[in-house]
Amino acid sequence: MKSLRMSYLVAGLGGVGFFAMSVLLLGVWPGRVLEEETRRTSPKNPLALTVSEKRGRQIYAREGCAYCHTQQIRQLDADTVRFGKSTAVWETQFDYPHLWGTRRIGPDLSREGSLHSEDWQLTHLYSPQAVVPDSVMPAFPALFDGAPDRPLQGARDVVTYLAGLGYARALAEPEIALKKTSGPPANGDDAYAHNCAGCHGPHGEGDGPAAAGLSPKPANLVEHEYTEAHVITVLERGIRGSSMQAWRGLPHHDIAHTVRGFYRPVREPAPPPAIRDLGKQVYADHCAQCHGENGDGKGSAAPEVRMAPTDFTSERPTPAETLRALRQGVAGTPMAPWNTKLSEAELSAVAYYVRGFYR
Ligand code: HEC
Ligand code: HEC
Ligand code: HEC
Repeated sequence: MKSLRMSYLVAGLGGVGFFAMSVLLLGVWPGRVLEEETRRTSPKNPLALTVSEKRGRQIYAREGCAYCHTQQIRQLDADTVRFGKSTAVWETQFDYPHLWGTRRIGPDLSREGSLHSEDWQLTHLYSPQAVVPDSVMPAFPALFDGAPDRPLQGARDVVTYLAGLGYARALAEPEIALKKTSGPPANGDDAYAHNCAGCHGPHGEGDGPAAAGLSPKPANLVEHEYTEAHVITVLERGIRGSSMQAWRGLPHHDIAHTVRGFYRPVREPAPPPAIRDLGKQVYADHCAQCHGENGDGKGSAAPEVRMAPTDFTSERPTPAETLRALRQGVAGTPMAPWNTKLSEAELSAVAYYVRGFYR
């Protein structure tokens, strides 16, 4: 009888002991390991969120972005190939309560900061389908004052938050950003319709539904003759300072064929020698420092401007397009209007002159 009473005690103590042990083993200990690991691997001055980023994060949580987007790259090939190196422990130290998410209806966003320009993000948030025709992401027009280029504070905060995602990691361990593509990579026309038409328009006229909020505007592919090599380089690298991203994993040759097919050739009257000389003079005086003596975009001032000047040897705008660029400048780029400095005759002369560089 006595031993039976003792067994209650033993079982009781054993139970409490087991409970205490599991709390330590499953709760306290992993927490300590995590803390230690975070401390050990974290850069000295990890970037805490700014005020705007914090507000953006709150909206991200409120609007349920985390139901469709993860912010954790797992250590699986499927993840690292698509999104980059797997998420390190210290990256999420300020992410509390965390927004890692569990479902990927949209792509992982932990490296989003390096992938798209601000005007891209605003346009996409205002209307995802304008940029990515097949997108199932809901639009968030309530964060805007009626247009993608008129964001309210909320949209600014969300985009600031997105721009910061992966920034701390990129500073600690630079890696080449993996630009993502959407839509099936079938033939060039298909790939164009799925990936490019939102901005460049179904017929390449630069008038896609996403064009309105973008600065600079998407190139009008009808008004430009491009060499195949030029289109492929642009697809590989994107255009710094614009919403034109790099497009890895698409059939570049096929797309280049589609892009070149949009160009409508212009009949070119050869300008009289006097006009040619005038164009040459204007070019040397005002344009060569950026666009280069040989029109290759490598002028002496080119490294100083925020965006690479047009390379006229591999890209030939129609005279009409060039005149428009000269009269109005190219918004969103360092190319200023010239109509206050040059006469109409000088403008047309140089517009024809730059066409001569194309090879
Ligand atoms: C119903 C699911 C869903 C919700 C909710 C959602 N998204 Fe998306 N999101 C997607 C899908 C699908 C894509 C991929 C297609 C595209 O780019 O539009 C995407 C793409 C994106 C991209 C582009 C990723 C890239 O680099 O290609 C960003 C940025 C983004 N979403 C941000 C947000 C933000 C911010 C919110 C909340 C305000 C949000 N999403 C809410 C489904 C969703
Ligand atoms: C989010 C909008 C957007 C999408 C999507 C987009 N582009 Fe662009 N693209 C631009 C913008 C903006 C420019 C102009 C940048 C500038 O003025 O330099 C541009 C420029 C170009 C140019 C001209 C390059 C040059 O040197 O002037 C080509 C060619 C081009 N895009 C092809 C494509 C192709 C092909 C796709 C699809 C695979 C595509 N773009 C998708 C926005 C976009
Ligand atoms: C301060 C440097 C600078 C100077 C000077 C300059 N440009 Fe530009 N130009 C640029 C940049 C940068 C772009 C934008 C490239 C882009 O959109 O990708 C540009 C774009 C252009 C375009 C637009 C091409 C297109 O794709 O539609 C034309 C045409 C042009 N420049 C002609 C000229 C001419 C002619 C002159 C001289 C009168 C001149 N530029 C002077 C920097 C300059």
